[in-house]
Amino acid sequence: MAIYTSKKANVFAESVIRDMTRQFQARMNANPGKAGVNLAQGFPDFAAPASMKEAACQAIRDDINQYAITWGTKNIRQAIADKTERHYGHRPDTETEMTVTCGTTEAMMATMMALVDPGDEVIVFEPFYENYGPDAILSGAEPKFVRLYEPDWHFDREELADAFNNKTRAIIINNPSNPTGKVFTRDELSFIAELCQKWDVVAITDEIYEHMLYDSRAHIRMADLEGMRERTVTISGISKTYSATGWRVGWVIAPAQATGAIRKVHDFLTVGAAAPLQEAAAHALAYPESYYTDLTALYTAKRDTLMPVLEEVGFQVYPTQGAYYIMTDASDLMAKTGHDTDIAFARWLIDEVGIATVPGSSFYRNKADGRTKIRFCYCKKPETLELAAHLLREGLGKL
Ligand SMILES: Cc1ncc(COP(=O)(O)O)c(C=O)c1O
Repeated sequence: MAIYTSKKANVFAESVIRDMTRQFQARMNANPGKAGVNLAQGFPDFAAPASMKEAACQAIRDDINQYAITWGTKNIRQAIADKTERHYGHRPDTETEMTVTCGTTEAMMATMMALVDPGDEVIVFEPFYENYGPDAILSGAEPKFVRLYEPDWHFDREELADAFNNKTRAIIINNPSNPTGKVFTRDELSFIAELCQKWDVVAITDEIYEHMLYDSRAHIRMADLEGMRERTVTISGISKTYSATGWRVGWVIAPAQATGAIRKVHDFLTVGAAAPLQEAAAHALAYPESYYTDLTALYTAKRDTLMPVLEEVGFQVYPTQGAYYIMTDASDLMAKTGHDTDIAFARWLIDEVGIATVPGSSFYRNKADGRTKIRFCYCKKPETLELAAHLLREGLGKL
């Protein structure tokens, strides 16, 4: 007897990104002697900050083992407010405007469930981070996609304006963006803000890469634009900034009424994030400014290691402005190796070159739009990136 599976669950496929990681692992297990590098899923292969780890151990030794207040411990909410004020000059209210969640992933899901109704439309830029479509569908909404056009991933202002209508409830903005590495300019954000105000739409911003901007760019929060604080939900977390994707700590900063609804959904979804890890995150959130400048320097060096190698071996590279991904076009290499889909080529890269990537079609609604694109992540140790460079040159350089 087959167990019935819901229409909701059947609408979307399993994550391609996590599937690539599994395929890579299977290849590594089958060939224990062969070198390989996973540049698919965006998680660092280097250590998280030592004092943050120690703070987590200390919290467990101190027996912080029970449920924390569902919307986050006092310490982490205080630390988020302090850091937000230090970096952006605005202090959110820890009692009424903040919810700590199990990662940014839950933050986005809880926000959508809390603010969006079945039948509403949610605007999503594409190529998109693959969770946003399912997030919209699980909350009953219809995602409306607006293209970002390479090479600089700009949007067409008319196309965006046309996507807004009376059914539009929210727009999701991932800034800096996965998978493109785009950083929205102030001018672009202002244009979006005007449309949000015109159509009474909420901006839900995923700012998990807020500390990964290159070439002297500064992070601009949608919430800080004129007239936007009361209609913006700002989401971030510790996964990327403190290299701890497995800890599952994120947060939502939103106006009080929205926060009330988000907290209720969050409570019933997960009750709360791991209590001792919230204490450790609070510790990390208090790191001095030098932590963030060092992080920028570290990631700039990583980007500048991988990007030229990809160009050298034949990918067309779209320069990365933020986050830790490089989006490429692999048309030439696909033609040389006889592949006509990104997925087939990505599988070949795993099997023959030893490099796991993400096929570009997973970032587009119409899979044909990403058919020649391949995404690489570079949140890896220098030696991992050196090995990746070696494998890429060996496998592709002589084609
Ligand atoms: C844009 C974006 N949002 C959210 C996440 C997941 O964040 P978290 O680990 O906080 O759930 C990722 C992870 O790659 C991401 O790229």
